[in-house]
Amino acid sequence: MKKNIAVLFGGVSSEHEVSRRSVVSIIDNLNKDKYEIFPIGITKLGKWYWYCGNIENIPDGSWETDTANKKEAFISPDSSVHGMLVVNNGNCETINIDVVFPVLHGRNGEDGTVQGLFELAKLPYVGCGVLASSACMDKIFANIILTAAGVKKARFCFIYTYDFDKDPEKSLDHIEKSLGSYPVFVKPSNAGSSVGISKASSREELIKAIKIAAEHDHRILIEETIVGQEVECAVLGNSEPIASIIGEIAPANEFYDYEAKYVSDSNLYIPAHIDDETSALMQEIAKKAYLAMGCRGLSRVDFFVRESTKEILLNEINTLPGFTSISMYPKLFENSGIPTPELLDKLIDLALERFLKNEK
Ligand SMILES: Nc1ncnc2c1ncn2[C@@H]1O[C@H](COP(=O)(O)OP(=O)(O)O)[C@@H](O)[C@H]1O
Ligand SMILES: [Mg+2]
Repeated sequence: MKKNIAVLFGGVSSEHEVSRRSVVSIIDNLNKDKYEIFPIGITKLGKWYWYCGNIENIPDGSWETDTANKKEAFISPDSSVHGMLVVNNGNCETINIDVVFPVLHGRNGEDGTVQGLFELAKLPYVGCGVLASSACMDKIFANIILTAAGVKKARFCFIYTYDFDKDPEKSLDHIEKSLGSYPVFVKPSNAGSSVGISKASSREELIKAIKIAAEHDHRILIEETIVGQEVECAVLGNSEPIASIIGEIAPANEFYDYEAKYVSDSNLYIPAHIDDETSALMQEIAKKAYLAMGCRGLSRVDFFVRESTKEILLNEINTLPGFTSISMYPKLFENSGIPTPELLDKLIDLALERFLKNEK
């Protein structure tokens, strides 16, 4: 019997558009003999619809105007429903769902919020649970946990905007003392997709950068700038994860900002230009970090390799990495011998396995 898979896309997030492209690639690659697919689109305003029209209308957002093919629908938090409620001429129809695949990036999708709904609904779902999702999304928490687990990172410190507003000198002194020199990277702890991130080369620029980051979060992370390569490793699995070969990104802009990620042509190299020893070590660190953060299902672990010392430094863990046809996560596994349809089968099996073992 076919499994009913709800794939969620869009969402109230700065990465809404990327999600629309990821979901089309996922629907294209899901085995239609095994799965009945129920695409659920979430608009930027947070309205939920079951979309049963042509998936070609998803990437540009025109599915939202295809009124004949969309119905109000949502995942019910009521576990006895075990699936989705569809509103039809004032009546509610229920559809049983076997596994939910939240193809949502960034806030409200990758941060544990929607995962909390699936927990209430007692539905198996692809990817990390509530805690791992929210801890990986929060750069300050992730840095603290990973450092405690012995994973090397760029030097970092953090401030709270209410302290900065009260006594800016004190916060600035703390940053300069902790990091030693400029330039530094200033990031909102919780935002995603390079939003609110800037590089500061002086105290004046640091003040500006803090104000920009403060528009997105009241907790701000500041890191030393790493000069070197940006490389990524895809990880798949529950308690015994596997790591893909390593890929490299060569940002088109000064750093891998939103523009470079999704608009200009940044180059991807698979495999990365690193030696075999570094690559093998990185795979081990990626799995260790994945387990330390409590990740399940999938994550992409991003690193820097410092040019001067060849040190491996973890940058961040993305629990719902981009999944478009040109995204690093599926490409890395394709190049490691796992074609995307097979990768998706594994992700669905891992979701069911985690649910059966009641692993949060
Ligand atoms: N400490 C750093 N040193 C050098 N470059 C950095 C540093 N932190 C971030 N960057 C650059 O900024 C980009 C976005 O930062 P990242 O922490 O990955 O945020 P996001 O979660 O938005 O992807 C990185 O891909 C990299 O190009
Ligand atoms: Mg990043």
